[in-house]
Amino acid sequence: MSQNDTTARIAHVFKGTFVHSTPRDAVEILENSVLGVDDEGKIAFIEKDEQLVSLSKIWEFETSDVKQLGQYEFLMPGMVDTHIHASQYSYAGTALDLPLLEWLNTYTFPVEAKYKDLDFANNVYTKVVRRTLKNGTTTACYFATIHTDASLLLGELADKFGQRALVGKVCMDCNSAVPQYKESPGECKAETDRFIKELLEKEYPNVKPVVTPRFAPSCSASLLSELGEIANNNKLHIQSHISENKEEVELVKTLFPGCKSYTDVYLKHNLLTDRTVMAHGCHLTDEELEIFHETGSAISHCPNSNISICSGMLNVRNVLNHKVKLGLGTDVAGGYSPSMLDAMRRTLDTSKALTIQDPQHQTLTFEEVFRLATLGGSKALSLDEQIGNFVVGKDFDALRVNVCVPDGPIDLFSDESPKDILEKFLNLGDDRNITEVYVSGRQVVPFPDT
Ligand code: GUN
Ligand code: FE
Repeated sequence: MSQNDTTARIAHVFKGTFVHSTPRDAVEILENSVLGVDDEGKIAFIEKDEQLVSLSKIWEFETSDVKQLGQYEFLMPGMVDTHIHASQYSYAGTALDLPLLEWLNTYTFPVEAKYKDLDFANNVYTKVVRRTLKNGTTTACYFATIHTDASLLLGELADKFGQRALVGKVCMDCNSAVPQYKESPGECKAETDRFIKELLEKEYPNVKPVVTPRFAPSCSASLLSELGEIANNNKLHIQSHISENKEEVELVKTLFPGCKSYTDVYLKHNLLTDRTVMAHGCHLTDEELEIFHETGSAISHCPNSNISICSGMLNVRNVLNHKVKLGLGTDVAGGYSPSMLDAMRRTLDTSKALTIQDPQHQTLTFEEVFRLATLGGSKALSLDEQIGNFVVGKDFDALRVNVCVPDGPIDLFSDESPKDILEKFLNLGDDRNITEVYVSGRQVVPFPDT
């Protein structure tokens, strides 16, 4: 082993227990280990702790600077929220009494129309970025609204607080029952171009634009085509919604009679790429999942939302069996919780509900769900070369977890194994247990102002 980059200096070294996923093991627990982060925020080494002295010579750090994790502490990769509406955070926890299409027209579109006002946007967007970071979301794939300036502000705030983010200015040119919340097709294309150009010009290291047709019912065929072209010409990410509830699937059939399926609508408009993430997919057929597999497109599973607005229950096992990339999402505010721990719990609940309905169903394990929230999310967003687990050369996006904080939500009884401790955190923990958050090696929680 040698220090391959002579300019890299070590910024942090942690010693203790590290928990992450690999393609082979849903949970790998590395005890008595050391992990070093260089000054570019990348993982420089991860080794057994008996190597500490020799590592300190190779990398020229003082062993006295090593951060020692306690008995009930571990580091895990930051969580990846593959689908969250930053603009809907103001009413998260309310308005869950209508099905999707009525919910959009009654609650969502009137609220999203308010983001013309940048003061309103600044208040909500500051709160959602801080709340999600504090809850361990180191990467968020955000929907904003149709407003370019407010969407740029969301990018600015993610950068300021240090969250890795994909930010989407929403595109929609039809079927809104709220007249002030819709764009003309020309406006939509021009503003999408401006949004992408201005966000890229900021050169934020960890914040990038994502092309965002809201969903097929909100977009004309020509808008979908234009957005496909913009994304493909600029190699950008794409996000949208698909097959969330049955009424919506029927509506898409009537709106796009020339298409074989909901998936075919996006396929025909060149919106299914290996940088695409589609939320929900509860009612996709096996044939449609096959197209996801072939195109390398991903699904964001948002179980809180799916249950809260009675959309459906995605069979994640079936999606995984089709070798389709899948991450978890909160889908605030269709989902009421901004926490990815909640998304993991609801994923397990849904899987267990499917097992109750069909005992042959192979229930997801908590280890698999942990992988979906971390490595799976990074793959779903095609960021797995950069983040997702603790591999040398990847960016250090991580949570320092302490399951034994004073007045915390977890009781321990001294006979728990490291895996039990992980499981207790995933099922019982909350942001009090996430004592530090790092993105690209930068400590972003606790916030500098607190
Ligand atoms: N489909 C189209 N727009 C939305 C949205 O804002 N939330 C959810 N859950 N589904 C959608
Ligand atoms: Fe959504």
